[in-house]
Formats: sequence, structure tokens, C-alpha cells
Amino acid sequence: MAPPRNIVILTGSGVSAESGVATFRDKDGVWSKYDYRQVATPEGFAANPALVHEFYNARRRALPGVEPNAAHKALAELERGLDARGGKLTLITQNVDDLHERGGSKNILHMHGELLKSECAHCGAVAAGDADLSLGLACGACSRAGGMRPYVVWFGETPRHLDEAADAIMTADLFVSIGTSGSVYPAAGFVAEARALGVPAMELNLEPSENAHFFTDARYGPAGEIVPQWVSEILGEK
Ligand code: APR
Repeated sequence: MAPPRNIVILTGSGVSAESGVATFRDKDGVWSKYDYRQVATPEGFAANPALVHEFYNARRRALPGVEPNAAHKALAELERGLDARGGKLTLITQNVDDLHERGGSKNILHMHGELLKSECAHCGAVAAGDADLSLGLACGACSRAGGMRPYVVWFGETPRHLDEAADAIMTADLFVSIGTSGSVYPAAGFVAEARALGVPAMELNLEPSENAHFFTDARYGPAGEIVPQWVSEILGEK
């Protein structure tokens, strides 16, 4: 069997766990400390924007203190290796951290947005930056204040890059899910899309996810160990 050339990978917070970034639903996860309805919904933002900004400001301030781990770096190596053989890696991440970028990945679809960007609710302008955000901040594009929000997709909002994700899955030789509980849609539905198209699907996770039954192959263990191992097998295949 020829080695896969076009691979689609979906990552979740588990790929950043060994870098020291908290996952959401594990023990002591983010949602055991915060009510997602208050800090990750449009209604929560409307009710208490200062609380929402402080939630994301704290997560943004923590980014310089964490480093990409072996899994992030292996995925960047996989992207380069597939490019070299005329293939393609489409990396779709649910994560809003910048660890895939800092690990060397280039072709990244941040379907839940990015901590290091902000968005103006008045004019829609998106700006990169690591400074704390507040509602009172004036937009650099339209100069109006009162509309600044994190460039993050909240529950109830439509994730980004869904068309690109669907196109990539359509032409994939392999779909791989790494470090996600498979509990949030539409991301959790990608494996079913792949399987409906006859695309083989592999799960690399610490433990079986909620949609583990969709996968045709699986390896369980810390991403920092099992992802580099898997990448070296894929790139080692001739
Ligand atoms: N290596 C691999 N997998 C790990 C590791 C690790 N070191 N540590 C934890 N995991 C796995 C867990 O077993 C779990 O299946 O990562 C998954 C983390 O699941 P969640 O905490 O639910 O995070 P995620 O799947 O990314 O959440 C999806 O939900 O709250 C929203 O927008 C948020 O993007 C997030 C989305």
C-alpha cells in the first residue's frame, strides 16, 4: 500500500497538554474552573465583557511561558516531509494557542480562532497582538471603542475554515485526530465525514475519545511520545 500523501489532521487541547496548557474536560480542566456559559458564549460576553476579557487575557499572558512539545514539532516535520513528496498536510486545530506555529507548522486552520488576535465587533477588523484586550480599547481600523473581543469562536458561533476542512477531507488519503475528546461539533463530526468518503481514520489520544468507534486505527498514549513515533513511520515509508 502506498504511503499516504494527503493527510488531514485535527488537533485538540491534548496536543498542547505536555506543553503545560490545560485541556478543557480532563480532571482540573478549564471547564472545571470556569463556567463556559459565562466566558465562552456571546451571551456571557454581553453580560460581563470584563470577565470574558480577563479569562482570555490570562490565557494569552501564559503563552510566552509555554513551549511547543515533541508532538507539535513532529507535525511540522510531517508537513515538510509530505510537501517534499508532492503531498500535503492540512492541519486543522481547535486550539487557540500558537504552539503549532511555534513548532514550525505553516498550513494551519484555526477553526476556533486564535488568542493572539482580536476582532472589532463594529467593523470586523482582525488585528494580531499579544496585549491585554478590553471592551474600552479603540479599534485600530475604525477607531471606535466598545467593540473589542477576542478572535475566538464561542459556543453557539460558527467555527471558521469549515469549507477548507471539508475540501481537504474530500481529497485525503488519511484523516488523523490528535488530542481531542471528540465532544464538540462540527470538529467531532470530521471523522464521520472522512469515513463516509471511505477515508481511513486514525485516533492518537491519551485515551479513547467519545467518537473512538468511528476510527479504523488508534494509538493511545501521550502525544509527545506517540505522535513523533507515528510521524517517523509515515515519513520512513517508501
Ligand atoms: N496526549 C494526548 N492526548 C491527551 C493528552 C496528552 N498528553 N492529555 C489529554 N489528552 C486528551 C484527553 O484524553 C482528551 O480526549 O485530549 C483530549 C482533551 O479533550 P478536551 O479537554 O475536551 O479538549 P478538546 O477536545 O480540545 O475540546 C474541544 O471544546 O471547549 C471547547 O473550544 C474548546 O476547542 C475546545 C473544544
